[in-house]
Amino acid sequence: MEQIVILDFGSQYTQVIARRIRECQVFSAILRCDTPAKELAKLPLRGIILSGGPASVYAKGAPQCDPGIWQLGVPVLGICYGMQLMAHQLGGKVEPGDKREFGHAEINITTDSTLFREMLYEQKVWMSHGDKVTKLPKGFQTVAKSGNSPYAAIARDQFFGIQFHPEVHHTPNGKQIISNFVHGICGCGRNWTMKSFIEHSIAEIRATVGKERVLLGLSGGVDSSVAAALIHKAIGDQLLCVFVDNGLIRKGEREGVEKLFAGGLGIRLQTEDASKVFLNRLKGVTNPERKRKIIGRTFVEVFDKAAKRAGKFKFLGQGTTYPDVIESIPIAGNPAALIKSHHNVGGLPKRMKFQLLEPMRALFKDEVREVGTQLGLPKEMVWRQPFPGPGLAVRILGAITPERLAITREADWIVIDEMKKAGIYYKVWQTFAVLLPVKTVGVMGDERTYDNVIAIRAVESVDGMTADWVRLPYDLLAKLSTRIINEVKGVNRVCLDISSKPPSTIEWE
Ligand code: XMP
Repeated sequence: MEQIVILDFGSQYTQVIARRIRECQVFSAILRCDTPAKELAKLPLRGIILSGGPASVYAKGAPQCDPGIWQLGVPVLGICYGMQLMAHQLGGKVEPGDKREFGHAEINITTDSTLFREMLYEQKVWMSHGDKVTKLPKGFQTVAKSGNSPYAAIARDQFFGIQFHPEVHHTPNGKQIISNFVHGICGCGRNWTMKSFIEHSIAEIRATVGKERVLLGLSGGVDSSVAAALIHKAIGDQLLCVFVDNGLIRKGEREGVEKLFAGGLGIRLQTEDASKVFLNRLKGVTNPERKRKIIGRTFVEVFDKAAKRAGKFKFLGQGTTYPDVIESIPIAGNPAALIKSHHNVGGLPKRMKFQLLEPMRALFKDEVREVGTQLGLPKEMVWRQPFPGPGLAVRILGAITPERLAITREADWIVIDEMKKAGIYYKVWQTFAVLLPVKTVGVMGDERTYDNVIAIRAVESVDGMTADWVRLPYDLLAKLSTRIINEVKGVNRVCLDISSKPPSTIEWE
């Protein structure tokens, strides 16, 4: 499929660029910034975008692209660092600016250009740069200026550079600029839709799997659920899903999965009730990392046994998505490189001789959700909040006992229930209850109590990498506090977590 390639120079917005292009119904791929031009030439390539990045183009060891890209005969758009690199490689000059330009700015479009087609001459944009182009390469001309720079946008033939970030929401017409580039300049059609993806993917799954069988570990989360629905649509009963109940899941979770998958969708489902094994091994364990390790190891063991019992399988279906597979090189100062997830319990050992079937490898989360919706999965499944693989274990600070699990599970359920009733649940990234390892004094009726404390955590986030705490309405907080203390035996105090990430994390362990 025709595509736009984004060469990644370590911008925290690289994935946002890719998503904006896909919103224009054009397929985009993120590749390492040093991908050889020869490799790019093999692709059905319609254009290249050079991302922003934290480095200075003139610094020693600064990330470069293969200069061969200028001879590929496709349009190139350089964004921020990308524009500076374009100027640098093609003979212009880049120098440190007098001051960093960060935040909102206004540009004036001075020359008609397809890049700014159907846009007013004055545009609000968002900048974030220290260096700037001080001399244009030969043949380039200014297309837009800002108060701070005569080169807010530059162009020569099929090459375009912009100093600002069109991909972020703070550039109100940024999407138009991206659309102008991919449609107007690169000539891409509107072929990338989830409807065409599903059709294509079903054909591909059938061709790959043939008459073989596929095993899939269903977690109840969005990714594995959509993968199950998609693979099932392609090969029906050749798919078997295994749901491991580790005893650390939310209230009603197992029943919900069984009802939706085995019941509604008619997917073959095997539930492994392994709660005893998990809870036994976690007995007395308080160290968060040890908890995670035990859970990870036990999961693999249980899944392995379940797989053996289920018979012969050639393929292991997985809900891997694009952010899991993008290959980037760590670039100094790039926070995105550091925050790669430590997660995913699903890492099954190599000795399990499966071939992986990952039909959603190319999709972003919003695309996975769209696929799920088109396949008929309910909103409660497609739009549910993320839940960590180790489950309630990382929300029970200190030792995990059946009593403490029951308290956390019940409080968690009340939080979700009230968030849904208040119409906020689907608007925030995550909301949950955490059981603290302290007891406090309270009074109930005439009696003194010495009981547990629940902390409420509600965060907004785009991808879980950074997060801010949600300013929940006081009325809702009051309801949560009253209900948790009244309905959950063993709790006499409720607190609110008002920390953002960084420096805190979303989960408490
Ligand atoms: P933290 O706590 O690192 O969490 O800020 C970021 C996001 O990741 C989720 N999370 C996990 N997801 N397995 C998962 O599948 C895990 O072990 C795990 N730990 C944290 C967390 O809920 C949040 O959305």
